[in-house]
Amino acid sequence: MESEGKKLFNVEFIQVESVKALVAESGDLFDVPQRYIRPELEADDDVISDTCQFQLPVIDLQRLKDPFFSETEVAKLGSASADWGFFQLVNHGVREEIIDDMKNNIMEFFMLPLEQKKDVAIAPGDIEGFGQHFVMSNDQKLDWGDLFFIHTQPVEMRNLKVWPSNPQTFRDTVDKYSFEMKKLLTCLLEFIAKDMDIEPDVLYNAFKPQSMRMNCYPPCPQAEKVLGLSAHTDGGGLTLLVQNDVQGLQTRKDGKWFSVEALPGAIVVNIGNTLEIISNGKYRSVEHRAVINTVKERISIATFNYMDPSCTMGPLPEVVKGGKENYKTVNSGYNRDVFSAKLQGRNYVENMRVSN
Ligand code: OGA
Ligand code: NI
Repeated sequence: MESEGKKLFNVEFIQVESVKALVAESGDLFDVPQRYIRPELEADDDVISDTCQFQLPVIDLQRLKDPFFSETEVAKLGSASADWGFFQLVNHGVREEIIDDMKNNIMEFFMLPLEQKKDVAIAPGDIEGFGQHFVMSNDQKLDWGDLFFIHTQPVEMRNLKVWPSNPQTFRDTVDKYSFEMKKLLTCLLEFIAKDMDIEPDVLYNAFKPQSMRMNCYPPCPQAEKVLGLSAHTDGGGLTLLVQNDVQGLQTRKDGKWFSVEALPGAIVVNIGNTLEIISNGKYRSVEHRAVINTVKERISIATFNYMDPSCTMGPLPEVVKGGKENYKTVNSGYNRDVFSAKLQGRNYVENMRVSN
């Protein structure tokens, strides 16, 4: 079932060095190259990492499904998606073993010698494979991490040429995990549709394709001066994030950065640009970024669900109900522009807004 997959994007990222290889070559005490140093972090006095002050809303999937609690939990889901654009999902029903297998396989992959990982390197003009995204110029600051990115659903979109065959269990594990994430997405969309007061089919149909971005954030001796992943918003519907036991995700609320301390086993969910747009702004696609640990390597796996490029994307008529559309409608459902510019906070979605 080897397939080429279909090309969704026509972008050309500049190839950069593997950060994991850089760390391995440089030993313990080394000066981080200037291209990774973020001057903006020096003035970052708006970071709140005290977990006593902040906990991401917790949504319980079993309560969503339980007729006795459902209404209250749906309301909580709705307000978390509107106020925070983020929540952590507990009792999600995805077996621990499936998540652990996925984490272990991608960790093993990142541990392979660089030469082997290069067998599945992102090819010029492509976005799938091992490497880094969003590097558009030679003087742009770089993220402290390596990534592996693939299309996972529908199955015909898979390009198995960039799916590693080492570890041997990799393909099988991604396949299983991908179907679990698809099931979980369907389940969440049912309750999001309830909160939006629309038919769930509208959302099921809107978010069929799925891709995964697996991130490896090596430790950094000057962790406070670098970013693992620049501030950005996600493009699609709902992003489902799992991570190893090293925290590092930060989200922005009321102009401040909050460190997310996810509960053990929880899946962190956030609203993407497309869901903000089709909900006419009811939900918010919130800026987030990843910071780095000084001694521990962090792994995360983000599963994105997005609108097929052949679809028109704009506020849903059943949401707008003849009122004002707060966003433009565009022809390309999956906002290609997301991949054609460096990451810059909420830029994409702000440009989609209809000015007053
Ligand atoms: C992403 C993302 C955050 C993280 O991959 O889009 O936001 O903590 N990841 O790795
Ligand atoms: Ni993201």
